[in-house]
Amino acid sequence: MSETTQADGRTFAPPEGLAAQANVGPEVYDEAARDRLAFWATAAERLTWAQRWDEVLDWSNPPFAKWFVGGRLNVAYNCVDRHVEAGHGEQVAYHWEGEPGDTRTITYQELQDEVCKAANALTELGVNAGDRVAIYMPMIPETIIAMLACARIGAVHMVVFGGFSADALASRLDDAGAVLVITSDGGYRRGAPSALKPAVDDAVDRSPGVRNVIVVKRTEQDVAWNEGRDLWWDDVVGRQSTEHAYETFDAEHPLYIMYTSGTTAKPKGILHTSGGYLTQVAYTHWATFDLKPDTDVYWTAADVGWVTGHSYIVYGPLANRATSVMYEGTPETPHRGRWFELIQKYGVTILYTAPTVIRTFMKWGEDIPAGFDLSSLRLLGSVGEPINPEAWLWYHEHIGGGRCPIMDTWWQTETGAHMLTPLPGVTNLTPGSAQHPFPGISAKVVDDEGNELTDDSTGLLVLTEPWPSMLRTIWGDDDRYVDTYWSRFGKDVYFAGDGAKKDAAGNIWLLGRVDDVMNVSGHRISTTEVESSLVGHPTVAEAAVVGASDPTTGQGIVAFVILRGSAEDSGEELVQTLKTHVAKDIGPIAKPRQIMVVQELPKTRSGKIMRRLLRDIAENRELGDVTTLTDSSVMNMIKDKLPAAP
Ligand code: WT7
Repeated sequence: MSETTQADGRTFAPPEGLAAQANVGPEVYDEAARDRLAFWATAAERLTWAQRWDEVLDWSNPPFAKWFVGGRLNVAYNCVDRHVEAGHGEQVAYHWEGEPGDTRTITYQELQDEVCKAANALTELGVNAGDRVAIYMPMIPETIIAMLACARIGAVHMVVFGGFSADALASRLDDAGAVLVITSDGGYRRGAPSALKPAVDDAVDRSPGVRNVIVVKRTEQDVAWNEGRDLWWDDVVGRQSTEHAYETFDAEHPLYIMYTSGTTAKPKGILHTSGGYLTQVAYTHWATFDLKPDTDVYWTAADVGWVTGHSYIVYGPLANRATSVMYEGTPETPHRGRWFELIQKYGVTILYTAPTVIRTFMKWGEDIPAGFDLSSLRLLGSVGEPINPEAWLWYHEHIGGGRCPIMDTWWQTETGAHMLTPLPGVTNLTPGSAQHPFPGISAKVVDDEGNELTDDSTGLLVLTEPWPSMLRTIWGDDDRYVDTYWSRFGKDVYFAGDGAKKDAAGNIWLLGRVDDVMNVSGHRISTTEVESSLVGHPTVAEAAVVGASDPTTGQGIVAFVILRGSAEDSGEELVQTLKTHVAKDIGPIAKPRQIMVVQELPKTRSGKIMRRLLRDIAENRELGDVTTLTDSSVMNMIKDKLPAAP
């Protein structure tokens, strides 16, 4: 990302009414500073434990952490049953709205019944604690029910975003060793049913470990059926009892795997466990968003297929007994005011979304939100990439009515929960900055040697103490876990992969990834993954991919390809073919915005592609230093080949 994050000097004090009643006040920073582990232990007490822990943190073998050692709990019980037991069975857990306008209201009691039925079904199908279950679904309630059913029986869920391709699903099924897939016939997107089952059939045909596929009926479209392997959710879950006696699991029992892109072509299976994860997602959800379970209507407008959905649609809100909104479709269907209509309809009080969506709304114009009653909103959140001050101010004014504080939350799939964020009753907001480490979190900006920087100079963000919801490893690859996150500055310093700076007021500003990872609409995509997809096409000899800054999506994917001698066509048609190829290979989110066919790629003497130069071209900047190129005329050749920049 370019450095568009300079403050314009304005800050925003916490609204007085909110500050007076906020769930947490300034004292939490002192408490956490005095005794970090005691602070997290207090946060853990918000959960219901079957057995209390003996030790808060075991960090004797860094970077392999154990939190709440010896503690036992059931995550699904904490998210559902205990609220029913406490007399809140009639409270709405989710107001679900399908894209075509159909709705479902699910109370905590109904959620408990459905989760128990699904848990019984999984057990009947031979799924045991520790087994991996893939969930490849649209945004429908069964997705959450399936996740909780896994948690309830101690199976490890692996949700794969429904926009990923059959190949991407197949490689994840294989890497995780999944025994079962839960999917649906499809879901609604942009006004039409889209299919999911064909991709599952394709992927599962290549995954001998998968014994069964459970299929939820959502769109009623025809699906191919594999007798003996495929089962309708309505049959296998529908006939089960709503009684299910849950077991309790160790605090470190694996809860889920979520794949994310790294700097190589192979996605990393980020492993999260139970007690520490639930502690931090529940506590942050309660503190950052000031969640009041009796009165708030909470909406994370994101897909459950990403970590934002796991932590802040499912686990955090449910652990806190929130009433949430869940929406299946896209913001422009059937009209560009759909989100605002939902806020008005359900009286949403807290909205959490991504800067790319805000910038899209800006493009559509403020008249659209102005046409709806958004006065129920009292707090806003942002996640996924730096929110530029212009977008922040627009969000504040045109959605938040000038009265709602905005929590700019920095975190990652790996961190599991908020790590840097303002607090709504405490912080003077500085638009564009994620501001401060959450209480109990230790973050620093350092130079290449690991020396702390506090003078506004650009460095790297590191986390200097373990935290409860941290990833525990990369599934099946402890070495890669150590190498990727814990080797740059030693075994007890977590390298986040983000550039950052700290200003004189102590605010931390995030400056985008420093590795070969792009951030497109808040989704992480590896340059290498797109490159290897392109090279996988028979016409392509070599490919280099960069993330170029994009006014709406943050970054856009720009590819430079060298064709094989045998390729007959190098025109627009081939470019389209390659774009479609990548979309099919990885998923539509990885489809390049632009593909340029070139004769040469700029390389250093050691043969490394100089992405920085390509980014300059893609962003139409003056070229940077080219002295380390093997042949600097290469750049002229590339430039000569280019069409006028878009
Ligand atoms: C990367 C993590 C966390 C859920 C969504 C993305 C970027 C995330 C912010 C923010 C600046 C941010 C970072 C980070 N990022 N939130 N508030 N300000 N940058 O999860 O796919 O794991 O991506 O997203 O670059 O490393 P993810």
